[in-house]
Amino acid sequence: MLGQFFKFMIYRNSSPHGVASPLRFACRHGRRLAAIAIAVVMFWMSWGSTSILAAESLNSQRNSSLNLNSSPACTYDQRRFHRNTGIGKFYQGREIAKVIGHQDLFWLERPTREGEERPDLLLNLLDIAPDATIADIGAGTGFLTVRLLDRLNENGRILAIDVEPESQDIIDFIARDRGETRITTILGSPSDPRLPENSIDLAIMLDAYHEFEFPCEMMHNIKAALKPGGRVVLVEYRRENPLIPIKTLHKMTERQAKQEMAAAGFVWLDTREDLPSQHIMIFEQKIDR
Ligand SMILES: C[S@@+](CC[C@H](N)C(=O)[O-])C[C@H]1O[C@@H](n2cnc3c(N)ncnc32)[C@H](O)[C@@H]1O
Repeated sequence: MLGQFFKFMIYRNSSPHGVASPLRFACRHGRRLAAIAIAVVMFWMSWGSTSILAAESLNSQRNSSLNLNSSPACTYDQRRFHRNTGIGKFYQGREIAKVIGHQDLFWLERPTREGEERPDLLLNLLDIAPDATIADIGAGTGFLTVRLLDRLNENGRILAIDVEPESQDIIDFIARDRGETRITTILGSPSDPRLPENSIDLAIMLDAYHEFEFPCEMMHNIKAALKPGGRVVLVEYRRENPLIPIKTLHKMTERQAKQEMAAAGFVWLDTREDLPSQHIMIFEQKIDR
């Protein structure tokens, strides 16, 4: 397709005698060509290494036949051809990403992350009550957990949840080291954060939701854990922007997130675009009247 595009450009810029000089064309459009080349390389990098997308739908199999659905309301597709950065399992048309967890500690705690993601702006925007109980779901190495502490008084609580026991070890160590009693770690299961019912004011998932293997079940369980008026916040890299240098499956479009949250019984309240590269998407529980 790119070849055809170039042929077309040469044809369009050809001399009245029908003979185009590719060299003259390249000189005249050098900057444009360079921009196209950069865009193609960025797209290729964000694509992962698998490019057999057309075959995906042909080879999709219903999870139900593989007995992978744990709830009748939650339906997934398992596909044979998929990106190598994903697990081959699709929810609402989105492939679930492979986990980036404690083994990627140096990525999660990279010194440039603070400037790239601006968690300080995120926390300012959330307007957190100082005595709130907050669930940091997919807490990883505690990047957000420790920053949340500064926003709470002595009555505030953070429940740091992850499916990896190593994450629990890291955050427990940090809490002990700081003499911090406001953090409780919970080892969740892939489908259940194991939060007590009606216990949290805010559930926040920073760069985590796109990795949940059972996003639908997770959100149903989070819903049960919210206090009345409680909020859910998803922070995800903007997939709408191919120039953001994060692997495609580790980004989400606002549209996709809204669709998945609506399917789990949440109402969209607001999306804030104050962060350099991430959406902040805020939801609340749908109340049936
Ligand atoms: C990319 S890391 C982000 C960690 C942290 N929120 C941060 O921003 O540094 C995603 C984390 O989500 C965790 N995770 C994946 N599925 C989960 C699930 N179903 N429940 C809880 N945590 C999960 C992974 O183990 C991983 O630690």
